Amino acid sequence: MNILILGSGGREHTFAWKIAQSPKCKKVFVAPGNSGTAQIATNVPIGVNDFEAIKTLVLDKAIDMVVVGPEDPLVNGIHDYFLKEEALKDVKVIGPRQEAALLEGSKEFAKEFLYRHHIPTAAYESFTKDTVAQGYAFLETLNPPYVLKADGLAAGKGVVIVKDLNQAKAELKTMLVDAKFGEASTKVVIEEFLDGIELSCFVLTDGQSYKILPTAKDYKRIGEGDTGLNTGGMGAISPVPFATDSFLNKIEERIVKPTIEGLKKDNLPYVGFVFIGLIKVGDDPKVIEYNVRMGDPETEVVFPRLKNDLVDILLAMANGTLDKIQLEIDERAATTVMVVSGGYPEAYEKGKVITGVETIQDSIPFHAGAQLNHGKIVTSGGRVMAITSYGNTYREAIKKSYQSIEKLHFDKMYYRKDIGFDL
Ligand code: AMP
Ligand code: GLY
Repeated sequence: MNILILGSGGREHTFAWKIAQSPKCKKVFVAPGNSGTAQIATNVPIGVNDFEAIKTLVLDKAIDMVVVGPEDPLVNGIHDYFLKEEALKDVKVIGPRQEAALLEGSKEFAKEFLYRHHIPTAAYESFTKDTVAQGYAFLETLNPPYVLKADGLAAGKGVVIVKDLNQAKAELKTMLVDAKFGEASTKVVIEEFLDGIELSCFVLTDGQSYKILPTAKDYKRIGEGDTGLNTGGMGAISPVPFATDSFLNKIEERIVKPTIEGLKKDNLPYVGFVFIGLIKVGDDPKVIEYNVRMGDPETEVVFPRLKNDLVDILLAMANGTLDKIQLEIDERAATTVMVVSGGYPEAYEKGKVITGVETIQDSIPFHAGAQLNHGKIVTSGGRVMAITSYGNTYREAIKKSYQSIEKLHFDKMYYRKDIGFDL
């Protein structure tokens, strides 16, 4: 098979790494890809939302399957586009159709889905600029801190959490009336604050049956001790030490099963990944959010623990035979530490030459915001590289990642030195 992966991050390098290991895979293409995917696949300089160019590529290269990495093309309807185009309709697309992608594309849609299917989540109400006054009144009924979420996609920045009621009201006004997040904040969901520890659960589905991948924990804040601004993720660990069998059982019974059943009841055919952001409140899991893709950097620790041929799994998802697949998981722990450009998640410089990658032996460097430039690997994004390691314990794995990072260099390189500190 010829397989095209859409995206350019550490997640997509990990997909390419895993897919390229499959004897079923003849050629791997990545659009647009990065310096890591360039070493194991063919990069094609096409944007993930340029459906016309993707169509041409798929036909030119006789691509059999398209694996969609990020949420944007899914929310923009790439799967529906393939189904509508006569020449593309037999190409398998891994990722849900536009309507189901609203689970990530609209916070309100996700909350309505959760409520309709009785899946535990924070209480909420949603507001528009015509109902700001009701929004203020709703805030007054809540205890601080206050959680305000732009309804639409806002590049991971649409959630604001503030301690003070007046600040929350001002924020609500800025979002709704002053369009702080543009289109994305024409609606705002206000939620009850949930206090607990977060984890990520990844579910594969063909729309009928499901399989649950190993859990992972992501470190979202830029600063040590989980301080400072939110990022796309600064590191991850799998499995999650506090996710005991009984807790995992609650996740499956109370959240995963009703989610898959809910998709069926709502007539939302779904081939792809459901990434469920969870929070453990007391001993109970609650849903913080849905994403319709794999997580980044969680993929960089989850896929290395998957022993199956990933292409077998993707084919089973596309063909509706996922129930025939038995997942085989590596017993070892995996960790990743994200190396980022100084300044990220705010302004940072690009084009810094990265050295030492080839000297890393005890870890797998998954490239993210890194590109080849005249034979050199240079930084091209905020999150530059995810350094993944295995260990008998996550502590052993994390130690290896930190030892490997010592070999890496670029100007203003930064990483958190405390991944796993809270476990
Ligand atoms: P989201 O984009 O919905 O995942 O929200 C981003 C982050 O905000 C989450 O990872 C949580 O850390 C935090 N968050 C979101 N909703 C809540 C909530 N109801 N209670 C506490 N924290 C939340
Ligand atoms: N690491 C969180 C995400 O991929 O959204």
